[in-house]
Amino acid sequence: MGKATQDLRKEHDVILHVLEVLNKMVQTDHYDVESRLHYYSEVIYFLKTFSDKCHHGKEENYLFKELVNKGVPNEDGPVGVMLYEHDEARGFIAQMSESVDNKDVDGFNRAAAQYCDLMRAHIEKENGMLFVIADQVISEQEQDLLFKKFEQHEENVVGHGVHEKLHAMIGTWAKAFSVE
Ligand SMILES: [Fe+2]
Ligand SMILES: [Fe+2]
Repeated sequence: MGKATQDLRKEHDVILHVLEVLNKMVQTDHYDVESRLHYYSEVIYFLKTFSDKCHHGKEENYLFKELVNKGVPNEDGPVGVMLYEHDEARGFIAQMSESVDNKDVDGFNRAAAQYCDLMRAHIEKENGMLFVIADQVISEQEQDLLFKKFEQHEENVVGHGVHEKLHAMIGTWAKAFSVE
């Protein structure tokens, strides 16, 4: 497994963990509306920063481009499907965000459930299909180069301090919603 795909797989594990927490959040009735909206807005911040800007950014700007260079089809092919799903995911995040602004817990829960379903299936496709292809067509050396670009991208869009803040937030949610 190359360094670049390995990094993205690790991020998938973090995202899947957050989806599990989010699933618990929408199901619980332990907290009042204000507290729920507070947690929801934190999750939206995470999804926008880590899942979209950082993770989808690495895929779209570097890995997918490299795959297309290597002849993996974009339109009507696996890369195009992944790009389409990233857009769908952005749409659901926008709906979640709008629901929080309107203090609409049910609206948030509906969009969050759709987001979770989409992202779980999306990650399964990338782990089980796209990254397997990537490991076949992109050499170890080229993956090392991609990984360097990932690190630079991460520094630009997330930055060190924010990364730690995000991980601390996940820990707080996991405790509050009893997720291992
Ligand atoms: Fe993706
Ligand atoms: Fe991904």
